[in-house]
Amino acid sequence: MQPAITVLGTGRMGSALAHALIKAGYPTTVWNRTPAKAAPLAAAGAKVAADVHDAVAASEVVVVNVSDYHATEGLLRNGAIATALKGKLVIELTSGTPDGAREVAAWAERHGIRHLDGAIMATPDYIGTEAGTILVSGPADVFEAGRGALGALGGNIRFIGEDPGLANALDSALLALMWGALFGGLQAIAVARAEAIDLGTLAKQWSATAPVVDGLVSDLIKRCAAGRYAADDETLSSVSPHYGAFHHLVELMKARGIDRTITDGYETIFRRAIDAGHLHDDFASLSQFMGRPE
Ligand SMILES: NC(=O)c1ccc[n+]([C@@H]2O[C@H](COP(=O)([O-])OP(=O)(O)OC[C@H]3O[C@@H](n4cnc5c(N)ncnc54)[C@H](OP(=O)(O)O)[C@@H]3O)[C@@H](O)[C@H]2O)c1
Repeated sequence: MQPAITVLGTGRMGSALAHALIKAGYPTTVWNRTPAKAAPLAAAGAKVAADVHDAVAASEVVVVNVSDYHATEGLLRNGAIATALKGKLVIELTSGTPDGAREVAAWAERHGIRHLDGAIMATPDYIGTEAGTILVSGPADVFEAGRGALGALGGNIRFIGEDPGLANALDSALLALMWGALFGGLQAIAVARAEAIDLGTLAKQWSATAPVVDGLVSDLIKRCAAGRYAADDETLSSVSPHYGAFHHLVELMKARGIDRTITDGYETIFRRAIDAGHLHDDFASLSQFMGRPE
């Protein structure tokens, strides 16, 4: 028999999670700080709990999806709720930092609560579909216990490791890649507009160029994993041509008065590597100038 599941937080994402659980046949209870947002879920078959205590008491599995861990803390970290959660499984799907997840996990362990931290790598429309991706970290046996419920939320559930901070850490790494592309997109749009290039043309050419960039990023990760920073026969591009082309962009931006906050950062990293003698090394050599943990 499928376990009863409670979803705390029915904003955009929490509602999608609850709908997916209902659709998969889990007896579902929901609670939201603003009750009106939980009402559509009642119509879909969920029970709506009057308060957090009733909500967590109703189920063996509690999925939390609020805005941040501070909000989670406000909901869960008091004696009565901790007692009600003892022995149950909490799946924290709120976004946060690796250290934040570790702190919640330590609190859960102190109170005899089984805990998983998940990072949702999808928008609400992907939840409950085969392409829905959630990264999960926590004890392996607890992951096995939560696998069924998680599987209802997406077809691509990835166990990242036992350190509870790992899912959020990988989430942040992937988001760094995403924002690299999105902020790059903002710069490209500014350049196109300044040079009267139709944005439709930009979009079309990006479709043709994106696979090349994708290949460069995959190559960069592969080379860094192997520590292959010096140029070799497989080097696609050394620092030198990148830096030359980068300066064409900077000159254009200066001439057209486009904001260079982002390119100033690129310049700093390029200069560190070049000043240290890496002009003719693989672009991957720049990774040594991004700062390191002590
Ligand atoms: N939307 C996405 O595409 C997406 C993708 C990946 C991850 N996420 C993550 O999912 C989480 C929720 O995102 P969302 O898009 O659903 O945001 P949202 O629509 O703004 O919903 C936020 C939810 O958090 C609740 N909340 C905020 N502060 C609270 C507090 N102090 N106490 C109790 N409840 C509180 C809100 O309750 P009220 O209704 O009462 O305000 C609401 O249920 C975030 O951590 C977000 O990073 C979202």
